[in-house]
Amino acid sequence: MPLSDLQKNIVALLRQKKAILLAHYYQRREVQEIADILGDSLSLCIEAAKTDAEIIVFAGVHFMAESAAILCPDKTVLIPRPDAGCPLADMITPEQLQKARQSHPEAAVVTYINSSAAIKALSDICCTSANALNVVHSIKDKKEILFIPDGNLARYTALSASAAIIPWEGYCPVHQSLNIDDIIKRKADYPGAPVLAHPECTPDVLRAADFVGSTAAMLEFVRKASQKTFIIATETGILVQMGKENPGKTLIPASENMICETMKYTTLEDIYTGLTNMTHIVTLPEDKRLKALSSLEKMLALAKSPPSTP
Ligand code: 13P
Ligand code: SF4
Repeated sequence: MPLSDLQKNIVALLRQKKAILLAHYYQRREVQEIADILGDSLSLCIEAAKTDAEIIVFAGVHFMAESAAILCPDKTVLIPRPDAGCPLADMITPEQLQKARQSHPEAAVVTYINSSAAIKALSDICCTSANALNVVHSIKDKKEILFIPDGNLARYTALSASAAIIPWEGYCPVHQSLNIDDIIKRKADYPGAPVLAHPECTPDVLRAADFVGSTAAMLEFVRKASQKTFIIATETGILVQMGKENPGKTLIPASENMICETMKYTTLEDIYTGLTNMTHIVTLPEDKRLKALSSLEKMLALAKSPPSTP
């Protein structure tokens, strides 16, 4: 599809300002089409950390842009829609975490990247859905791990962890909304099609899945698989890139209702206006940034080392 005039104007503006556009797979199709880098939370974090662009425009939700700002103090990070939050990230407050730490003084705190900088600052190490198992397995000296804020991801890591996982009962409303009956129906309609599920889905759904992984891992699975039809249990935005990479395959959303409202807030107009006016710059007090940086850096250091086993 040729680019629209607005898309072309944004691309020209990005080049003129030495800026890059990072976009998550759940973004609107037209935003994904002009992203310099399209990725999952982990890869976008890694790319933000290593880019030499002066300006990062982050088409995602707030914690993603904030993570880029934590990792890149010398860059200007813009979020075109500052109101694009992640409800899961808001399900734990610093006060609640401090209390939980007091109740479990010996536990390590593993924090899903879908969290605020204030929460990251109080954590030992971060993880994303792509490396949660690896992060948990890397903690050898603790018998307990307080895993926050996603309870489903926590329970999923607990299946193979040697430490006791204490889940925080947060959840992603989009993935929580998918229930086992949706999967049973899709399986009946598409016999033999593998079910791919994001680990934010409920334990019932994950048990019924043939593959559990992050958005990037699901894309890789479909690219490499010999099957022709797949049932995809995550936010439907992923089907844009999956469809592009697999023209001969049939991709069935596990539910048409899996749409993250805030991921869809960001429009091309928001990106153009934000970059033109240099508005909505993500900033953090330096002491807070440094505290949050430590937990992100520990995670990224792990990504460079070989995977560990429990
Ligand atoms: P990924 O880590 O797979 O990119 O997922 C991010 C997210 O927000 C899932 O809901
Ligand atoms: Fe947050 Fe869920 Fe949206 Fe991901 S899909 S950004 S976890 S609300």
